[in-house]
Amino acid sequence: MVSGRNETLTGRIRLGMVGGGNDAFIGGVHRIAARLDDHYELVAGALSSTPERARASGEALGLARIYDDFKSMAIREARRKDGIEAVSIVTPNHMHYLAAREFLKRGIHVICDKPLTSTLADARKLVKAAEESDALFILTHNYTGYPMVRQAREMVAAGQIGKIRVVQVEYPQDWLTVEETFKQAEWRTDPARSGAGGSTGDIGTHAYNLACFITGLAVESLAADLQAFVPGRQVDDNAHVMLRFEGGARGMLWSSQVAPGNENALKIRVFGETGGLEWAQEDPNYLWHTPFGEPKRLITRNGAGAGDAAARMSRIPPGHPEGYLEGFANIYSEAAQAIMAHRTGAALPDEVTFPSVSDGLKGVQFVSACVASSKRNSAWVSLA
Ligand SMILES: NC(=O)c1ccc[n+]([C@@H]2O[C@H](COP(=O)([O-])OP(=O)(O)OC[C@H]3O[C@@H](n4cnc5c(N)ncnc54)[C@H](O)[C@@H]3O)[C@@H](O)[C@H]2O)c1
Repeated sequence: MVSGRNETLTGRIRLGMVGGGNDAFIGGVHRIAARLDDHYELVAGALSSTPERARASGEALGLARIYDDFKSMAIREARRKDGIEAVSIVTPNHMHYLAAREFLKRGIHVICDKPLTSTLADARKLVKAAEESDALFILTHNYTGYPMVRQAREMVAAGQIGKIRVVQVEYPQDWLTVEETFKQAEWRTDPARSGAGGSTGDIGTHAYNLACFITGLAVESLAADLQAFVPGRQVDDNAHVMLRFEGGARGMLWSSQVAPGNENALKIRVFGETGGLEWAQEDPNYLWHTPFGEPKRLITRNGAGAGDAAARMSRIPPGHPEGYLEGFANIYSEAAQAIMAHRTGAALPDEVTFPSVSDGLKGVQFVSACVASSKRNSAWVSLA
């Protein structure tokens, strides 16, 4: 078995959490991801939007320090000798900026979920806040943590499919096919809390980030056709987007939350001058490589032909599935390496990589450009 995982980190990082209360979805995933490689200890939280729920949620987890709100948490933790070194922000989108700036301002590293913010103005302010802070900013575009995504990126960078020509990426779901009233759907379909994009912000940003991560290319302009199929819905639930990449590559991105039969069917195909690659999130341990004129090759996680970049992200032998939780944990472990290096002033190895605040800004710019293009009958909009 190959395992390139870094086992040399010592000591746990004291972690806090904002959001992720009793009734939340992704907070629990972050807690598992933080624990998987034993690099963090969750010690403090402001887990919900009201003091009562924040307290009940903190007690349910047995947290050492429970706060009524994130601002008092940031102030009081920054004053403690044993205060948190990093905070995970897992609230709805419109609170990301307000929460993150309180911690950045006090030198506490931020691990924030996507999209970066609900508005472009907030995204720009958050980039500035991160630049002015000594603290690190990690954005959990978790799909970049999958071993076979790292494999694909490594193969593109090594020129194994030649100069990129075509990128097809899609992220269809079906859970918003009819009007839903449960919590996660409710704020996601409210532009004041979600942002101007619906499917574009919630899952289109993942697809967009993945396309750029694997190809190493930036998008120069896009043309988008956004639709809200469910009557009364104020944000898009389906989007078709054409992409023009730097260097001439062309792409198409489809995000949908009204595609019955699709759960989390994120899939990417990249075609270069000498071959192609194909990866699907629901079958994540496999990557198809299609060198032109040769038989298709199936590369398996930790199997023959898989390289160092994938091995670094893998824990167990091939054939035993790794997936969403492990990929998420890889982002936490990359962040842990960066935080440990920051502690000691050590140089960060080149292979350590994670999405940052600037990737987050690109995601919000993508949403904003999609909305602007669609309003102008799918006109091309520059992202430069
Ligand atoms: N990376 C991924 O795969 C992924 C998946 C799902 C969600 N997300 C992102 O994670 C975030 C949360 O999504 P979710 O589905 O878990 O939402 P959710 O509604 O299930 O949970 C949000 C939590 O934040 C709390 N909250 C709201 N305002 C708060 C405040 N001011 N202070 C403290 N807590 C507050 C709520 O009480 C709740 O506990 C969103 O930004 C979403 O886009 C990412």
